[in-house]
Amino acid sequence: LAAAKVDAALITAPADIRWLTGFSGSSAVVWLTHDRLTLITDGRYETQAVDELGHLAAGGSGLFVDIEIIRTLAQRDDRLTSLRANAASVALGPSYGWQDLAAAQRSWAAGVRIVDLAPILAPLRAVKDQGEIAAIRRAVAIADDALAVVAPHLMERPTERDIALALDTEMRRAGADGSAYDTIVASGPNAARPHHHPTDRVVQAGDLVVIDVGAYVDGYRSDMTRTFCVGRPTARQQRLYDATVEAQRAGVEAVRSGVITSDVDLACRTELKRHRLARYFVHGTGHGVGLDIHEDPFLGSTTTGVLAARNVITVEPGVYVEGYGGVRIEDLVVVTRTGCTVLTGSAKTLDPTALSPA
Ligand code: GLY
Ligand code: MN
Ligand code: MN
Repeated sequence: LAAAKVDAALITAPADIRWLTGFSGSSAVVWLTHDRLTLITDGRYETQAVDELGHLAAGGSGLFVDIEIIRTLAQRDDRLTSLRANAASVALGPSYGWQDLAAAQRSWAAGVRIVDLAPILAPLRAVKDQGEIAAIRRAVAIADDALAVVAPHLMERPTERDIALALDTEMRRAGADGSAYDTIVASGPNAARPHHHPTDRVVQAGDLVVIDVGAYVDGYRSDMTRTFCVGRPTARQQRLYDATVEAQRAGVEAVRSGVITSDVDLACRTELKRHRLARYFVHGTGHGVGLDIHEDPFLGSTTTGVLAARNVITVEPGVYVEGYGGVRIEDLVVVTRTGCTVLTGSAKTLDPTALSPA
């Protein structure tokens, strides 16, 4: 509130609410003032809200904590309108229902100074504390193990769907609450699509297979991509693979607190350019990961943000050749003052039988 110079903030995105309060339900809004936090939710979440917000009330946050239960959305809106009546300025988070801040100003907050909360909250969320990094590490370990168990089955003519389901099942079996995002298994020509959705295509001898898999653990996510070849790679497959691995390594080596995000992207692109493959790298180099799978900071050719210590980010260059296939390598790393710590542990190898569980 001090940074935004406002009397109050309305926080509405579930991940923002979870970060701020620990509440993990899917439907709530939070009204925050200098001395009081009001969580407004519905009857499904009453007991859970009392449990999950208990630490704020007890833990010296200095805030009075109110949990209010509403029965209809109209009741919620009435409540917010009366809370707003006591504030001359409000910072507003995304995703409440107004299309934008101007619409909120017109329809809800005439006479109140409205400030965008997103640019204040996003960089705070982007710097992880030890507990958050520990949760991400647990998610990483589960995905590493699942890949080691499942990748060898690529040799047995499974469908893309079979492999995706096996990864999801294996992660759940190992204690994950779910997958961090829709698991990607892209084989043969499908590997030319960065965000391909697994199909009934049977994985064939000679295919490159891109597998992008992460786990969801205690609200936090991991994100990793490896690429395999079923059988002996051709010289061309090996070249695409080696160039991508080198580009990815160059990207990781460029990571350090204080570095401009576009410089990490440039490091990957420069390496691919050396191999005359830069035009096949059709997306950005990375993004922050935490409560959301894609969050600040973003790393692309035109991004201007600066990396901070304890940002958790991906470095994920790829080359995608339409009609032929593709390669992507993605690691999750923690930014440090001198470089970064790579969290993802799966070996980078084209051989799907060469991984070993941690
Ligand atoms: N798994 C989605 C991504 O890498 O961005
Ligand atoms: Mn990914
Ligand atoms: Mn990613």
